[in-house]
Amino acid sequence: MIKLHDKYFKPFISAQQIDDALSRMVQEIANDVGDDIPVFVGILNGSFMVVSDFVKKYPKPCEVTFIKLASYEGVKSSEDIQRLIGLTQDLTGRTVIILEDIIDSGNTLAEVHRIFKNEKVKTLKIATLFYKPEAYKKDFKLHYIGIKIPNKFIVGFGLDYDGLGRDIPEVYQIKETQHMTNLVLFGPPGAGKGTQAEFLKEQYNLVHISTGDVFRYNIKNETALGMLAKSYIDKGELVPDQVTIDMLNAEVEKNADANGFIFDGFPRTNAQAEALDKLMDSKDSQINAMIALEVDDEILVERLLKRGETSGRADDADESIIRNRITEYYNKTAVLKEYYSAQDKYFGVDGVGSIEDITKRLSAVIDSL
Ligand code: IMP
Ligand code: MG
Repeated sequence: MIKLHDKYFKPFISAQQIDDALSRMVQEIANDVGDDIPVFVGILNGSFMVVSDFVKKYPKPCEVTFIKLASYEGVKSSEDIQRLIGLTQDLTGRTVIILEDIIDSGNTLAEVHRIFKNEKVKTLKIATLFYKPEAYKKDFKLHYIGIKIPNKFIVGFGLDYDGLGRDIPEVYQIKETQHMTNLVLFGPPGAGKGTQAEFLKEQYNLVHISTGDVFRYNIKNETALGMLAKSYIDKGELVPDQVTIDMLNAEVEKNADANGFIFDGFPRTNAQAEALDKLMDSKDSQINAMIALEVDDEILVERLLKRGETSGRADDADESIIRNRITEYYNKTAVLKEYYSAQDKYFGVDGVGSIEDITKRLSAVIDSL
């Protein structure tokens, strides 16, 4: 993902795919042109990279020139294109091929046609690397199209967002602006994760996804993924990450209009953290923070023993078992602390105090994201 000005963009079309598309266009055009020496006309600014790569591939003699449409800068100006600069060459009788980076509404193309109406060229053909069929509002024929793309804003390979991005050798697509807050909630047993998750989910209208609950739900309701997971559990094997991720994906999709998610119990390994990043990326979103509730071991032991008195949970009754679970937790989560720290996304929060105070500390972190 990259950021240009205020917007985020994700990888969309690789340099290789662009190169392949340009090669195909070159071949087609070279075939059609035959023995004529064509004049390739690039429309500046955007087409400089297309033209450069295109003519390097062109197998026969050709001429190259550029024209520039004034009031052509920026994103919003496609409606008020006014005039053409730079067509100084006499193109009478010539085979002219317009080389465009992108055809969107077709306004630019209309202007090109208006200008060429008075030129007595032999043929005028239009070639464009990118074409947005859903945005195109004109009837002019497009003779050569490299890659058809959806009607979403792209940058790179000559195309800019408010001046930036033209130099990037591949193409990125804008990320739909979703202001989701996605948290990974961490804490040793007894830290108060469950209690705090309840408050945060209310306060920020987030969906709490506890991996344990998701497993139990899928197994109980005998979903395809649940049955698959059960087949591993029954054999005493670990459920593969992909199965867990598929279940989480289903949960995320069920709550597509949520303000965000609190992930609880996942990820537990680097591979899972990477898989979760990929999942969020596919939703045009990201994990914003890993928040870990920090509580001293002695206090945890005390809390859990107390809980054991009332909950009847066997694993809360024995001090050595409790200490083991805590040690296990720190051993297992150290890598994740590193993973999220490396992205500046790790936040440790003091988990000792009143429930209300701890909620306040957590909110301060979330509000700062
Ligand atoms: P038109 O709407 O076909 O006239 O395109 C006008 C111009 O808007 C193009 O030549 C580009 O400079 C710019 N443009 C259209 N779509 C995009 C895009 O997705 N990214 C960057 N520039 C674009
Ligand atoms: Mg252009």
